[in-house]
Amino acid sequence: MAEVNLDWTSLSFKYRKTDAIIVSRYKDGQWSKPEISKDFDFHFSAFAGIFHYANASFEGLKAFHGIDGKIRLFRPDENAKRLARSGKRLGMAYPSEEMFIEMCCMCVRENLAYLPPYGFGSSMYLRPVLLGVNPQLGIASSTEVLFCVMCAPVGTYSGAKILTPGTAVISRNYDRAAPNGTGSYKLAANYATSLYPYNMAHNQGYRELLFLDPATKTKIDEFGSSNFLAIKGNSYVTPLSDSVLPSITNKSLQAVAEDFGYTVEKRAVPVEELAEFDEVNACGTAVVITPICSVDDKLTLESTEIVKTYKIPSGDECGKASRKFYDRIRGIQDGLEEDTHNWCLVL
Ligand SMILES: Cc1ncc(COP(=O)(O)O)c(C=O)c1O
Repeated sequence: MAEVNLDWTSLSFKYRKTDAIIVSRYKDGQWSKPEISKDFDFHFSAFAGIFHYANASFEGLKAFHGIDGKIRLFRPDENAKRLARSGKRLGMAYPSEEMFIEMCCMCVRENLAYLPPYGFGSSMYLRPVLLGVNPQLGIASSTEVLFCVMCAPVGTYSGAKILTPGTAVISRNYDRAAPNGTGSYKLAANYATSLYPYNMAHNQGYRELLFLDPATKTKIDEFGSSNFLAIKGNSYVTPLSDSVLPSITNKSLQAVAEDFGYTVEKRAVPVEELAEFDEVNACGTAVVITPICSVDDKLTLESTEIVKTYKIPSGDECGKASRKFYDRIRGIQDGLEEDTHNWCLVL
C-alpha cells in the first residue's frame, strides 16, 4: 500500500483524489461485474439523461478505522435500501443490497492508504452514485445506468471544530422540496434547487438553513443536508414529514436515545416550538450532529430584518443529551463501544 502524505488533523469535507473508483454499468437488463478503475473521468454521451433531466441519485456513508485496528462501515445496508428507493422513484435500475455493499467494501480496500488512522476524528466518506447514461432526447427514465462508488478522506463537514454550535436561519421564501414531491428521496435534483438559498444564508454568516414543510410553512422539515432533532426534557423530538429525507444518522440517534431512556417523538413540529427546546441539532452522516445555538426567523431570506430569534438554551455548548448520543454513535463507529444494534459491517 502506497503511503500518502496527508495531515489527518486538518481534513475537512473536500474533494481529494484517491487511488480508485468502483464502477458497474446496467445495460440490457443486467449489471456488469464491478470494476476497479483508476480513471476518474466518465465517458458517456452528451445526450445522457443525467445531463439534461437529472436522472441521478447518490448516497453518503462512512468507513472508520477503529481503535482495535478493524475497519467498520456504518450501516451500509440502510444506504443500499435508500438508494434502491431513489432508483425506483427515478424509474431506473439500481444495485441489489449485496452488490451495493460489495462495491463499498471494494472501494475501501482499493483506497486503504486514504483511510484515516484512528484518533484524528477523521474517516473515509463513501459516495455511491447512480447515473442515467444512455443517449436520449425525450424526458424519460434512463435505461442504461452507471453505478459507481468513490471515496474521500474527510474531517468535519465545514472544517469547524467538532460539536461547535452554529447559527441557523429559517427559509420562508424558498422550499427544498415540493408537497408530494421528492424531498424524501435522495435525488441529485433536490440539491440543485437548494443551492441558491443556501449560498445566501452562508453569505449572511449562517451555518445552516432550516426548511419548513412546503405545504403549510408552519412546521419544521429539515436543514438543507441534515435532519432536525431537538431535546425537550426527556423527549427526543424530530419532524414526521413526507418531504424530509429519512436520515440514517437520525434513525440511529433515535435508537441510542431510547437506549438512554428517552422517549422518541416523531411528529409535526410547529416552528414556534423552537422556543421550548433545550437542545437543537442538525444531524447527518458528515458530522453526526451539529449543535444549533440560535435560529433566526425572517420574512424573506433576502430581508435584513430579523422578526424573531430563537435562542437555544444550550447556547455555546453542545447540549448534554446530544453529547451523550453523539459519543455513543462515534464510540460504536470507532470500536470503543459495543455495537449492540449490530450496525457496523466489519471489513
Ligand atoms: C437533505 C438531507 N437530509 C438529511 C441527511 C442526513 O442523512 P444521513 O444521516 O443518512 O446522512 C442528508 C444527508 O445525506 C441530506 O442530504
